[in-house]
Amino acid sequence: MYLPSQAVIQDITIENSRIKTYTLAFTDKEYQRNFSYAPGQFMMVSVPHCGEAPISFASSPTRPGTIELSVRKAGELTSRLHSLPAGSMIGLRGPYGKPFPMEELAGKDLLFVAGGIGLAPLRSVITFCLDSGKYGTITLLYGSRTPEDIAFQADIEMWRKAGVDCRLTVDESSSDWQGNVGVVTTLLPQTMPLSSSTVSLVCGPLVMIDFVIKELTQMGLKDEDIITTMERHMKCGVGVCGHCHMDDKMICVDGPVFSKKELTESVAHFQEKPTVT
Ligand SMILES: Cc1cc2nc3c(=O)[nH]c(=O)nc-3n(C[C@H](O)[C@H](O)[C@H](O)COP(=O)(O)OP(=O)(O)OC[C@H]3O[C@@H](n4cnc5c(N)ncnc54)[C@H](O)[C@@H]3O)c2cc1C
Ligand code: FES
Repeated sequence: MYLPSQAVIQDITIENSRIKTYTLAFTDKEYQRNFSYAPGQFMMVSVPHCGEAPISFASSPTRPGTIELSVRKAGELTSRLHSLPAGSMIGLRGPYGKPFPMEELAGKDLLFVAGGIGLAPLRSVITFCLDSGKYGTITLLYGSRTPEDIAFQADIEMWRKAGVDCRLTVDESSSDWQGNVGVVTTLLPQTMPLSSSTVSLVCGPLVMIDFVIKELTQMGLKDEDIITTMERHMKCGVGVCGHCHMDDKMICVDGPVFSKKELTESVAHFQEKPTVT
């Protein structure tokens, strides 16, 4: 169960100074052919002597043959990964975790809200939606720290051409930035009024998720129509070690995808706190 399969880095796309996207293929061609996954799931990635880390699929299963993982340089393993050239081997085990409910989302208008590397798992969903053609309107709100930090620019251009309404914002502007300045929630009023079939998918840092969920609720979205992903440090990835627990939930098997309804029912962080007077 803990044995990784060997994969070769076929290609590397530099998204920005901290994020690279890796195109990977298992060296065992039969294994690659039979490999399947769903948007929202993740792989445990390993590099010799650096341990393992969970990384979400950035690619869509509608495009088989290779998989793509987008990695932000954070600590030991991801820094080592960033130093590897194309042709290098890494270890992969998975897929793990509960995916986005793609069947239930069919026919819905989708409002994606992402910050930084949080666009990686949503890239998988957006590609899946565009390839399958079973979804309503697609809107993407994407926040980055500065214009230089905007990742997935080639994808954003492609999505725009495919009819996705992509709206970008940066926290700090530079002189040649013509777009919105402010945190990603400042883009939310531009999406009003939301259609009655809107579902929002939110990925990014926890503080961003908190603010976005509050605003989406004020905009009238029901708890079951707000879907997000949670992150914790992981060891086993399969519900055995307890390392990734969030109250009574294990992120690796109960998540990483959760609706706001699931989170408010079982995670103290998301429950309304009584106002102290
Ligand atoms: C389900 C899931 C999906 C993910 N998908 C992606 C993805 O698609 N792309 C991506 O880039 N990242 C993703 N991550 C995050 C990634 O797994 C982490 O950033 C991972 O820790 C990187 O490993 P590392 O060895 O490079 O860094 P680490 O050495 O683990 O350090 C990463 C950061 O965490 C801090 N840290 C280390 N240990 C602890 C600890 N015990 N408690 C608190 N903080 C600690 C470090 O100081 C550093 O700032 C995902 C995480 C989860 C749970
Ligand atoms: S990482 Fe071991 S239980 Fe989730």
